Amino acid sequence: MQQDLVGISEIAEMANVTRQAVTNWRQRYDDFPKPAQVLQNGPVWNREIVEHWLKQKEGRTPHVISFINLKGGVAKTTTTVAVAELLAKEHRKHVLVIDLDPQTNATINLIKEEQWKELDEAGRTLAQLFEDKVNFQLPAKFNVEEAIVRQVSTIDGGIARLDLLPSSIKLIEIQERLPFVAIQGNYDKNPQDILKVALQPVIDRYDFVLIDCPPSLGVVTKNGLKISTGYIIPTIPDIVSTWGIFQIVDNVDRFATDLGRPIRPMGIVATKVQGTMELHSRVMRDLEAGRLFNGKTTELKQPPLFKSFIKQNVDTARGADAEANLRTFKAKYGPNCDAFRGLTQEIMERCNVPKR
Ligand SMILES: Nc1ncnc2c1ncn2[C@@H]1O[C@H](COP(=O)(O)OP(=O)(O)O)[C@@H](O)[C@H]1O
Ligand SMILES: [Mg+2]
Repeated sequence: MQQDLVGISEIAEMANVTRQAVTNWRQRYDDFPKPAQVLQNGPVWNREIVEHWLKQKEGRTPHVISFINLKGGVAKTTTTVAVAELLAKEHRKHVLVIDLDPQTNATINLIKEEQWKELDEAGRTLAQLFEDKVNFQLPAKFNVEEAIVRQVSTIDGGIARLDLLPSSIKLIEIQERLPFVAIQGNYDKNPQDILKVALQPVIDRYDFVLIDCPPSLGVVTKNGLKISTGYIIPTIPDIVSTWGIFQIVDNVDRFATDLGRPIRPMGIVATKVQGTMELHSRVMRDLEAGRLFNGKTTELKQPPLFKSFIKQNVDTARGADAEANLRTFKAKYGPNCDAFRGLTQEIMERCNVPKR
């Protein structure tokens, strides 16, 4: 029987990516199928084997993106939530938001406070996951399936395909004790792996996992980075908010080197931009030109600035609380709606996700 053979161009077409992407996969993935034959004009593969590999790849590699800045109040949460909502609603992706910040802002943005209180009391938040490891004498209570809240957001009264792993203010106290769980001998693995292990049964369901990190590079953030394929830095274009960006890039780069795999600095998003402020305009120009690390003795490059930026706007500020019950993107984000749409598109492009 004649085998159904395909070349690189056909594989690219099957996967809806460029030929270059397929060439990259061949280099990057050890398990990329071996060619069935090498013909004069290049290698060819058995179609069925390639199809199987592609299917597996789609399932097993969600894009996991951490949103990080060492500064609070720079719209990390707002950006994480808006991008998640747009990916799920307008691009029909399966998205999980992980709220790693004890401030619990992403949680309170996506579900009502009353619902959160019930979940918190029942131990159905990430605080419980970490508490289980700290209080090892007690029986573990956290169950990832139960903790995932499905179809969250006020938009449309809930967005299909948008899930949330909620946080809790209890995490403030618990995170202090986390670095010591391994030393105390009550956890046989690295405390940076707690989230990774817990997510294993569910993570492959998602196309995107977006992590709202606390404003630090402590153990909790490291739990997020451990599963991240990339990270995004939201920042107000001023001196104090951009000040820590080098620390982040440097720290994550070292962390990734130790892991032996890349965690891609996907870019910087300018937020709460006030066009009339000379300082904002100047810092924006520096970020655009990639000049932020100038004067530092480093090989590291400033992550590129996303073209889309978010303006300071009262409507966007109002959208942060699920109690406000804003049911459309327009109502929730006001004039920043299209900027968030543009940003989401750019993020997908940087993830190499084909347009629908
Ligand atoms: N574009 C914006 N214009 C005005 N206020 C904003 C904007 N984006 C966010 N905010 C408000 O700024 C505050 C901080 O935003 P948030 O997303 O919680 O930042 P972070 O997570 O970095 O602490 C919140 O009150 C939020 O509603
Ligand atoms: Mg926040």
